[in-house]
Amino acid sequence: MALLQVDNLSIGYDGRNGLITAVDSVSFVLERGKTLGFVGESGCGKTTIGMALLRLLPENASILSGKILFEGEDLLELSPTAMRKIRWKKIAMIFQAAMNALNPVQRVDTQIAEALLTHEPGLDKQAALKKTAELFDMVGIPENRLRDYPHQYSGGMKQRAIIAMALICQPVLLIADEPTTALDVIVQDQILKEIRSFQEKMDIAMVFISHDISVVADVCHDIAVMYDGWMVESGSRKEVLSSPAHPYTKMLLASNLTLSVDPEKPIQISEPVIHIERSPEQCPFYHRCPDHTDHCRTDSFQWVPLSSSHRVFCKNVSKGDL
Ligand SMILES: Nc1ncnc2c1ncn2[C@@H]1O[C@H](COP(=O)(O)OP(=O)(O)OP(=O)(O)O)[C@@H](O)[C@H]1O
Ligand SMILES: [Mg+2]
Repeated sequence: MALLQVDNLSIGYDGRNGLITAVDSVSFVLERGKTLGFVGESGCGKTTIGMALLRLLPENASILSGKILFEGEDLLELSPTAMRKIRWKKIAMIFQAAMNALNPVQRVDTQIAEALLTHEPGLDKQAALKKTAELFDMVGIPENRLRDYPHQYSGGMKQRAIIAMALICQPVLLIADEPTTALDVIVQDQILKEIRSFQEKMDIAMVFISHDISVVADVCHDIAVMYDGWMVESGSRKEVLSSPAHPYTKMLLASNLTLSVDPEKPIQISEPVIHIERSPEQCPFYHRCPDHTDHCRTDSFQWVPLSSSHRVFCKNVSKGDL
């Protein structure tokens, strides 16, 4: 049984102009110890998926369809009490922009030890502080900085502390939403190394969210490309990076100098056209797609399997094209 299996998940938000579907018919599987990266531009629904996994969506959100099977149990069917037992202890999350959420008037190690004591009330304070110190060591915070206040930390150290806090209950699944986005590239690189190393040591599965395909390429075993609420391509890291099939994936790769297949011929990424009215048959990427045909507006859409793990949501692609 897969650790996490999401089937046909659709999520809407009630807004001023009625309901918008932020996540549409998304399905994926994540095995224990593996990392699945969600990549796509701002507003494509990455955080919404992450928050849905922990059932932390805001009040104006609703699950329109789908199942979230975690260790075989549908999280959407659990009572709030049962869900509380899973949250943080089994599934933890590093929230987008969380590093600014540390309490400014409490020492960093105390905050993290307290998070642990909340979930394991039987533990004594000394044991919680010891565990915190071990985790800080794992995420690269020197011992002599444990007793500092958040304002004494650099951005990279705050982010490391937030990662330590997410790991404190030893979850089996970590959702990391843009964990390195606010950091400079050198610090980002160091933290990505640490993420890979603790993931191996602790055998944690990860849903890793980023708008940056090079970051996803650095840490993930599998990659899911999102566009306007739809998953448009998914496959192993190698399949998606070496044989990208969807025009949007090709655009994302071409916009990245290190991953671009041909840096001499950059492909221009056209302007986003998000949440526009379209018929259910029309491809969500139709307006930006350089390869669209009339069929892309009228014929109903389906996944095209390219291998047992690689699939694309584009009817213009077939197995022989790769
Ligand atoms: N609370 C909300 N109320 C209404 N609409 C929302 C709400 N939260 C998100 N949305 C909309 O849902 C869509 C998906 O948002 P989401 O935050 O999941 O995107 P994202 O891929 O995480 O973007 P980013 O890369 O900027 O973090 C967007 O169109 C967004 O405007
Ligand atoms: Mg987000």
